[in-house]
Amino acid sequence: MAAVFYIFTVALLFSSISGELQNDFPSEVDAKMLGFRKEKLTHFRLYWHDILSGEKPTSIRIVNPPSNVPASSGFGLVNMIDNPLTIGPDLDSKMVGRAQGFYALASQEEIGLLMTMNFVFVEGKYNGSTITVMGRNAVFNKVREMPVIGGSGLFRFARGYVQARTHTLDLKTGDATVEYNVYVLSY
Ligand SMILES: *[C@@H]1O[C@H](CO)[C@@H](O)[C@H](O)[C@H]1NC(C)=O
Repeated sequence: MAAVFYIFTVALLFSSISGELQNDFPSEVDAKMLGFRKEKLTHFRLYWHDILSGEKPTSIRIVNPPSNVPASSGFGLVNMIDNPLTIGPDLDSKMVGRAQGFYALASQEEIGLLMTMNFVFVEGKYNGSTITVMGRNAVFNKVREMPVIGGSGLFRFARGYVQARTHTLDLKTGDATVEYNVYVLSY
């Protein structure tokens, strides 16, 4: 009888250990318990300011194109950005976040950028939340669409797209203000 009890206990012990090991990596969690209930689609419009000129540029060239590249494409150029995102087209309008990352001239045939940037929000409940935009930006097209590939904070699991339209472009300085319409699915 004692032996049977012993075997039973050992069996229980092992089954619970192996059960734990099975759940350890990866383990299924209840989405609702983590606060993910209903996916929703949000839209917002922002103005992105690429400031190259003046005392305090927010967009700085960190890589020059090689000298054998035709100036018309600028292929290889990279700018690092920490660009203000405002609610209106005026730089003086309310700032709701910043676009931090870089863009690079990635087309040999035309002016085509690779954009890689995080929109970091500072406004209200969105303070500290981010979305990540990565895509192709043919800057002389009227509308450019780029994917939103993820997010953090209130934008966890974000996916969606942005549509960019140039609002103003100063051909002398290169300073530009671009309207971004952002559509994101998140919880
Ligand atoms: C956003 O968060 C930072 C640090 O977490 C804080 O210093 C700042 O005051 C907050 N801003 C707003 C507008 O709530």
